[in-house]
Amino acid sequence: MSSTAWTVDDMPDLAGKRALVTGVTAGLGKCTALELARRGAEVVMAARDESRLGKTVVEVRGALPEAQVQPLVLDLADLSSVRRASDEVAAYGSIDVLVNNAGVMATPKRRTVDGFELQLGTNHLGPFAFTGLVFPQLVASGDARVVTVSSIAHQLARSVPLGDPREPHRRYRKWGAYAESKLANLLFAFELDRRARTRGLPVVSVAAHPGYASTDLVKGDRLGGGRRPAGTMIEAVTRLLGQSAAQGALPQLMAATAPGLPGGSYLGPSGPGEVRGLPVVVGTTSAARDEELAAKLWALSEQATGVHFP
Ligand SMILES: NC(=O)c1ccc[n+]([C@@H]2O[C@H](COP(=O)([O-])OP(=O)(O)OC[C@H]3O[C@@H](n4cnc5c(N)ncnc54)[C@H](OP(=O)(O)O)[C@@H]3O)[C@@H](O)[C@H]2O)c1
Repeated sequence: MSSTAWTVDDMPDLAGKRALVTGVTAGLGKCTALELARRGAEVVMAARDESRLGKTVVEVRGALPEAQVQPLVLDLADLSSVRRASDEVAAYGSIDVLVNNAGVMATPKRRTVDGFELQLGTNHLGPFAFTGLVFPQLVASGDARVVTVSSIAHQLARSVPLGDPREPHRRYRKWGAYAESKLANLLFAFELDRRARTRGLPVVSVAAHPGYASTDLVKGDRLGGGRRPAGTMIEAVTRLLGQSAAQGALPQLMAATAPGLPGGSYLGPSGPGEVRGLPVVVGTTSAARDEELAAKLWALSEQATGVHFP
C-alpha cells in the first residue's frame, strides 16, 4: 500500500460491500457517503434530522442514479435513538465499513438527552454505544473496518474526563471539551483495535482527521451561537488555509478502503501542520496511545451508556 499521493482514484471497487456513515447531511460525511456509493458500496446514510437526511439521500440519488443508499435516523446525542437505529440496522445483515464521522464542535454548555456533556456525548459516547450495538454485524462481515474521525485538536488535550459524564464536575471550556472528545475518539479507535486483535475478531479499527476543511462545523454562527469574533476568525482562517470538504474527506475515505491498512493507523493530510494535503499516515500525541487511559475510558463509556461490546 502506498502512503503517498492517495486520491479517490485509488479507492477499490466496493460492489457487494455495505458501509454505514454517520453525519451525512453535510461536510465530510456527505462526501464520504457519496464516494463510497460511487464505488458501488451499499451505503446506509445516518443522520439525526429526518428531513435533512431525506434531502441528502435525494441529492445522492440525483448525483448517482445507480447508488444503493438507505436512510437511517440516528441521533448520537440520544441513547434511545442509538438503540432504535441499531435495531433497524440489524435487519441489514453484515456491515463491512463503519465511518464514525458525525460530530459537533465548541458548542455552548449543553447536555445530551441522557445528561452527558454534549460534546463528549455526541462525539464519543454516542458513537461508542452505536459501534458496540452493531459490532456483531461488523464481525459478521469477516473483514470489517471501523473508521473514527478525530482532529488535530486532540493535540490540545492531555487527558479525557474520567468522572461521571452526567455530573457538572468542573468549569466548562468549549474548546477544551472538544479537544477532549477528539482525544477520546483516538483512545476508542486504538482500544477497539487492540480488543478485536486480542479476541482474534476480523475487525480493523483505524482513525482519520481532515486537517482544516471548510464545512458547516467551522461556520462562525455555529461556534458559540451568534457570529462572535472567534467563530468568524476560525471560519476565515479555514477558508484561507483549509481545504474543501471533498479534500478533507480523503483521509477517512483512505482509512475506510485502502487495502491492508494496519489496525491502529491514523491518517491525515500530508501538508505542513497536517492542515491540508493528500492523506498519509500521521502521528498522534502520546496521550492518544496511552493504553491505561484507553482502558479507563472504555470502562467509563460502558458504564455511562450501558453498552458492553460482545
Ligand atoms: N471540518 C473540519 O475542519 C474538521 C476538522 C477536524 C475534525 N473534524 C471532524 O470531522 C467530522 C465531520 O465534521 P464536518 O466538518 O463534516 O462537520 P459538519 O459539516 O458540521 O457535519 C457534521 C455532521 O454531523 C452531524 N451531527 C451533529 N450532531 C449529531 C448528532 N447528535 N447525531 C447525529 N449526527 C450529528 C451533523 O448533522 P446536522 O446536519 O443534523 O447538524 C452533520 O451531518 C466531525 O467528527 C469533526 O469533529 C472536522
